[in-house]
Amino acid sequence: MEMLQTQRGKPKLSCGGYMYRKDRECNKTQKTTWRCVLRRGCPGRAYTEWNSRDQRYIAHITKAHTHAPIPNAIDSLEWVEEIRRTSAAVITHDETGPPRFVDSATQLSHPSQLEHPVSVRETVIGASSSSRKRGFKEEADSEDDFDLDDFSVHFEVHPNNPGYHQGSSGVGQSRLQPHVAKNLRMAEGLPPQKAVDAVLIRSDPMPEGSDVVRGYDFNEGIDYHKLFKSYARTGFQATNVGKAIEEINKMIDCKLQPVPEGMQSEINLNPVGREKSNCTIFLSFTSNLVSAGTREIIRYLVQHNMVDCLVTTAGGIEEDFIKCLGPTYMGDFSLLGRELRMKGINRIGNLLVPNTNYCLFEDWLTPILDTLLLEQREQGVVWTPSKIINRLGKEINCTDSIYYWAYKNNIPVFCPALTDGSLGDIIFFHSYKNPGLIIDLVEDVRRMNNQAMYAVNSGMIILGGGVCKHHTCNANLMRNGADFSVFVNTGSEFDGSDSGARPDEAISWGKIKMTATPVKVYGDATIVMPILVGETFARRQGELKHFSHFD
Ligand SMILES: NC(=O)c1ccc[n+]([C@@H]2O[C@H](COP(=O)([O-])OP(=O)(O)OC[C@H]3O[C@@H](n4cnc5c(N)ncnc54)[C@H](O)[C@@H]3O)[C@@H](O)[C@H]2O)c1
Repeated sequence: MEMLQTQRGKPKLSCGGYMYRKDRECNKTQKTTWRCVLRRGCPGRAYTEWNSRDQRYIAHITKAHTHAPIPNAIDSLEWVEEIRRTSAAVITHDETGPPRFVDSATQLSHPSQLEHPVSVRETVIGASSSSRKRGFKEEADSEDDFDLDDFSVHFEVHPNNPGYHQGSSGVGQSRLQPHVAKNLRMAEGLPPQKAVDAVLIRSDPMPEGSDVVRGYDFNEGIDYHKLFKSYARTGFQATNVGKAIEEINKMIDCKLQPVPEGMQSEINLNPVGREKSNCTIFLSFTSNLVSAGTREIIRYLVQHNMVDCLVTTAGGIEEDFIKCLGPTYMGDFSLLGRELRMKGINRIGNLLVPNTNYCLFEDWLTPILDTLLLEQREQGVVWTPSKIINRLGKEINCTDSIYYWAYKNNIPVFCPALTDGSLGDIIFFHSYKNPGLIIDLVEDVRRMNNQAMYAVNSGMIILGGGVCKHHTCNANLMRNGADFSVFVNTGSEFDGSDSGARPDEAISWGKIKMTATPVKVYGDATIVMPILVGETFARRQGELKHFSHFD
């Protein structure tokens, strides 16, 4: 409960969210009766009496109101009181329209205007001639009346009053509570200061040399090199493709530099005996990218000895050999599994591989496995996945094959999950027919890690996620991080998967150097990879020629 007094000396009772005006006072009983300030017949009544024991007034509600509490109306009066305490506000009003300000630079409005059209017709604070303009008097006469529908109050705070100071917005501000001051702007259609500050915040100048967004203009003709160059300034994943092109070109620049003198001697420490370049480029890819036409792009890189180490999964090995034995066909994602199964056709996305191809693969591979077992027994050969892949590359003797060229160029191929595919099925069946073949993973993890450890610099191009991504990054941990990195995959990091992890996560593990500028492109590698290779290795084939032994 609060007893208030308006500027004009009218008492008001604020109690329980309602406001009352004084009705009667009884000297005998020391009681004051109050009625609801609202017109239109609200029967709300209360009385107050002086409690001498507690030395305070106590209010009793005697009749309930027929409307909800009007906190804004209470606020209004409190606000008026606050205005009175802090400044000399003046209402201006005339007969031609609603109340308005004398000085628009210092306009204030009532807090109730925002949420409810509640108003207080009692607000003359500091007399001024403008406050006595025609039209105001009638309303001032009914100052005790509140109307929920039709009233608004406007104030002016004079610059020479203590509550005034000029804010950056040019609107006068008093020492009002923030929620009051905020709403004062509303009177002549000024938006809330908070929104203005939030939306119209001034910009710092852009750093010098900032790139401007600008896409390719086909009025310049169809020039794919220019088109892909424009990607860097196109935005979104196009920009990431542009950055990836830059990052791969940095790898190539580095590779083209001579190996520093002192580091030549380390060559023999690399157990695969591959000639060292100034940048060892790891190319890693998921199996499906060999099923798809990206296989030919990988083969191109390997054929010209442009990359130094391959990492993939079982399908990424066998699908290359299978394609040498029988073709993979275009299909459709929507083809029905049951119908395909009955026809003996396997689906990989929208590609189709007849089962016959896998039978041909088994026929080709089984005698080779016999030979491997024989060499293991008779010559003590310790087979590892990379040694087997090298041997299969030799045996296939087909220039279409990635691994034929890997064999020819002494590019090691690592596949720690060699048995998770058709290769594994055939090794499984072979283990019954001719048991005893042992495949050593330990030697291969040493060979793989050595590729990174003894690299002068290292770059990773990783297409897709899963094993091929992690195995490559993990090897680079052994050298305290790769120097250059490009990830292309469709994975997102929200599930915590390594597949989706951004390069920054690999930095936290020491798999990418802290000083590196890695790039991740979110996208299907079948679209992205040809562009990357076209704008880097293929464009620079001449520069890379001296690495190629078979041109
Ligand atoms: N053709 C095949 O895909 C095939 C054939 C035989 C066996 N397998 C076996 O299936 C298992 C799983 O295959 P995997 O580990 O190679 O990879 P995967 O197919 O499981 O893919 C791993 C992640 O790489 C990303 N990715 C895959 N394809 C992508 C693309 N085109 N573009 C961008 N990102 C892509 C996705 O984030 C995906 O989650 C392996 O053990 C593999 O040997 C696959």
